Amino acid sequence: MKPLADGVKLPLGLVGLGAIGSGLALNLLEHGWPLIVHDRDAARVEALRRSAPRAPRALVPDVAASVADLLASLPRPRRVFVVVPAGDAVDAVLAAMLPQLTSGDVVVDLGNSHPDETARRQAEVAARGAAWLGCGLSGGAAGARQGPCLMAGGSGSAWDAVAAPLLAVAARGPEGVGAALVGDGAAGHLVKTIHNGIEYAWLAALGEVHELLTCSGHGASEQAELLREWADVGGLDGMLIRLTARVLDTTDTEGVPLVDAVLDRLEQKGTGAWTVELALTHGVAVPQIAAAVSGRLLSCRAAGVVDPGGPTADRERTRAALAIEPAELAVTLRAALDGALAEGLQLLAAADRDVDLGLDPAAILRLWRFGSLLASERLEPAASAWDLTAGRDTVGRVPEEWRRVVSAAVSAGQPVPVLAAGLARAEALAGGRREGAALIAALRDAFGRHGVTARRNPDGPPHHADWTGGPDRLVS
Ligand code: 6PG
Repeated sequence: MKPLADGVKLPLGLVGLGAIGSGLALNLLEHGWPLIVHDRDAARVEALRRSAPRAPRALVPDVAASVADLLASLPRPRRVFVVVPAGDAVDAVLAAMLPQLTSGDVVVDLGNSHPDETARRQAEVAARGAAWLGCGLSGGAAGARQGPCLMAGGSGSAWDAVAAPLLAVAARGPEGVGAALVGDGAAGHLVKTIHNGIEYAWLAALGEVHELLTCSGHGASEQAELLREWADVGGLDGMLIRLTARVLDTTDTEGVPLVDAVLDRLEQKGTGAWTVELALTHGVAVPQIAAAVSGRLLSCRAAGVVDPGGPTADRERTRAALAIEPAELAVTLRAALDGALAEGLQLLAAADRDVDLGLDPAAILRLWRFGSLLASERLEPAASAWDLTAGRDTVGRVPEEWRRVVSAAVSAGQPVPVLAAGLARAEALAGGRREGAALIAALRDAFGRHGVTARRNPDGPPHHADWTGGPDRLVS
């Protein structure tokens, strides 16, 4: 679509008025974009209609009775935003649109779709001359309403057709805006998937730090204060840490922390596990992200299980045994967040190397600073543990505090799988000979004749040794 003169804004379509869709709809309306909306649930349409006029300068949306009606009512070429749950619901909307789609139409899927599904939908829509953009949206319901981070993937011409409204509603700051075309094909949903993998690890690290603080006798509101201090002066400022402080400060009517009333069982919609699958496909180690996904699975088995020694017996024992200073935890949390970020960025670089989607990890890191759940000081180049020029972690010295925190927690019987996985990764990258790896290489050669490489000649040819008791030597 050609840019219109004098800022004329032609109507857009929006399908799906859940928490994210209705927030995005209000945001678009407030920015002067006329909308035709559709949701199967009339109550949601009514709720949007009721809230729309209250927003200052907002337009009132038109309503379509079906996806087909919505398409028929839009000026050509059509631009439609789809904000429905990933999976079958997206395919149902696509099926309803497909017969009517014509050349130049652009559909944007703003859900957390699997990149492979996005690639398949792009091909189906392209067969009709139209375009499908897979666009990750981060920031949750509040972000959709006030300024999300938008990671679009697809063709440049499709992006040009929808860039104006997406740039208008995205988060922004003095140094940039939280909306961009991050690459070709399914790049947008690939980037959002990896973003979420990092998010899983960050949430888990925060959860583990919360448990350690709780076991060390710090109450929820005291923890909220500590987190704010870490955000103000500890290099940890960011969306999730501030949100954690707010959540820990929230009480019930009796003044008891509300989080105490929440069952410790975690759900997941899949993006964390997809990140781990992608990492395995592209040969990247993501131990913190994998530990976070496993932690969610384990929580489903363990939630609500009562300690036979009395509900608080274990906790009391742990508390008595734990002696961790909050300052040590701040260092540990920073290191763990950086480690998970580095895992994700390394995966982005590997995925781009293998599939060539035109991803630019530095640009993606910049984009996430605006409106995403990862927005934080840890994404600043000076703070990042990821050296974008060298394309590797800048892990130099492993912080002693990190070792102390993990060993104190483990000795006290307090599991910290994500903090420990990050530490193990950092220790591995920090160098030094791994005798265990050498032994495994030897065993592989001993049972499978896979060959070993001589330590003195790392680039030399593989050698099959005789492991029957020797003597043998590695030929270099
Ligand atoms: C965001 C979030 C958001 C949402 C995910 C999490 O960036 O705003 O990632 O997209 O919270 O759906 O999914 P899980 O249910 O798997 O935690």
